[in-house]
Amino acid sequence: MLNRNFMTKSGIILSAAAASVVSNAYAEGTDETIKAVLIGCGGRGTGAAANFLKNPNTKIIAVGDVFPDQTEKALKNYDLPQEAGFTGFDAYRKAIDYAVANGAVYAILTTPPGFRPIHYQYAVEKGLNCFLEKPCCVDSYGYRMLMEVNKLAEEKNLKVGVGMQRRHQTVYLDGLRDILENKKYGDILFTTVYWNMGGIPVRGTGEEPTEMQRQIRNRYYYVWLCGDNILEQHVHNLDIGNIVLGNWDPLYHPVKCNGMGGRAPRYIPKPTPRVGEIFAYHAVEFEYEDGRRMFSQSRQVPGTWNCVNEFVHGTKGSAPVQRKKLRGEKLPDPYDVEHTDLINAIKENKKYHEGWAGATASMIGIMGRMATYSGQVVTWDQAVNSGKTYMIYENHDSLTLESTPPVLPNADGLYDAPIPGVTKDV
Ligand SMILES: NC(=O)c1ccc[n+]([C@@H]2O[C@H](COP(=O)([O-])OP(=O)(O)OC[C@H]3O[C@@H](n4cnc5c(N)ncnc54)[C@H](O)[C@@H]3O)[C@@H](O)[C@H]2O)c1
Repeated sequence: MLNRNFMTKSGIILSAAAASVVSNAYAEGTDETIKAVLIGCGGRGTGAAANFLKNPNTKIIAVGDVFPDQTEKALKNYDLPQEAGFTGFDAYRKAIDYAVANGAVYAILTTPPGFRPIHYQYAVEKGLNCFLEKPCCVDSYGYRMLMEVNKLAEEKNLKVGVGMQRRHQTVYLDGLRDILENKKYGDILFTTVYWNMGGIPVRGTGEEPTEMQRQIRNRYYYVWLCGDNILEQHVHNLDIGNIVLGNWDPLYHPVKCNGMGGRAPRYIPKPTPRVGEIFAYHAVEFEYEDGRRMFSQSRQVPGTWNCVNEFVHGTKGSAPVQRKKLRGEKLPDPYDVEHTDLINAIKENKKYHEGWAGATASMIGIMGRMATYSGQVVTWDQAVNSGKTYMIYENHDSLTLESTPPVLPNADGLYDAPIPGVTKDV
């Protein structure tokens, strides 16, 4: 299956190099430049690199992207020689190899999330501290991979950050302190979490020469690339609701859920090609071991109630989790802070591992999607052990921009979508 020859208990294969334990690659206590490789040079990749580069003594030394135009842009952005840029589905491997050979200690992994576990695995095997954008996987196999790689990163004393920036945002940290330490709302009964927004634009021209290219340019609309909106965007809110109920335990999770969803609004006023297979809305009730619940909604429907927020409901009242920003208050940008925190952990060799929380929050979104797609009650154990995969893991590196993607449109350019009651997503 994946790489070579190291089978773990969960059946995920890590390469032989992974088994050896190395220490944090950064020379502790020096002001040595932190060199990074950027994999996935799109909107957030460019943003994350800029956040990283705001820190002193930092440098991007290699870039990788599946598309040559994206790699070229990034080479120019960071004033790099041609030899530091790599293209294709195996660009991650080549860019990481080049970067490691040239002293990199930091990987910024910002492709669509379906690829994340594969890229993370390789980066950790090669001894890099990692910044992973959220979500961190799109299916259960990816989650199981993440958990194995998380263990390996811990064994290798590597530091891992995940782009769930609310964890580094003052108004959230203050709000969470009030809720969890100061018990401002009493005992917590349940949480409500929302990512309800208007539409999300269709990207690319639609005239790309192959279906693979059309899907990757328009990444949002395909489960194998992005996991559906309950995961792709809503993971932020699920993470916060889960922190409130689980008091920051990165492995805390609901034990089951049920939910509903559909995509009819994407077809109003008429079926529209290129809106892929994802749902337009999901509503899920997540239940925890002690019977408490997290109620979640994620929606992308123009003209509907807009709400991207999380609320705590306790014995002493209800409120948004984040505190109000005061008038005129100047607060640090959490997108900057998440890199500064990771860099400081590397420099000071402090334990730092958001990979566990990233995996948990992603898996909660996946479990919710299983419930909305199937219309069934789904347990955590069923979800985590599911054999259903979306990403192409097998022979991944031999994919090309001409390969057949996992889903194809019909003659009208429309894609089959899940049908609750019929679809088996677990
Ligand atoms: N934390 C946040 O608030 C936040 C905000 C925006 C995006 N994101 C996350 O960042 C990630 C990227 O989103 P984006 O908006 O930058 O998308 P994007 O489409 O703008 O960029 C993705 C880039 O990855 C490249 N790519 C695709 N497949 C690849 C592969 N197999 N190997 C190498 N490169 C590949 C694409 O060509 C593109 O350049 C997503 O996971 C998204 O959820 C997070």
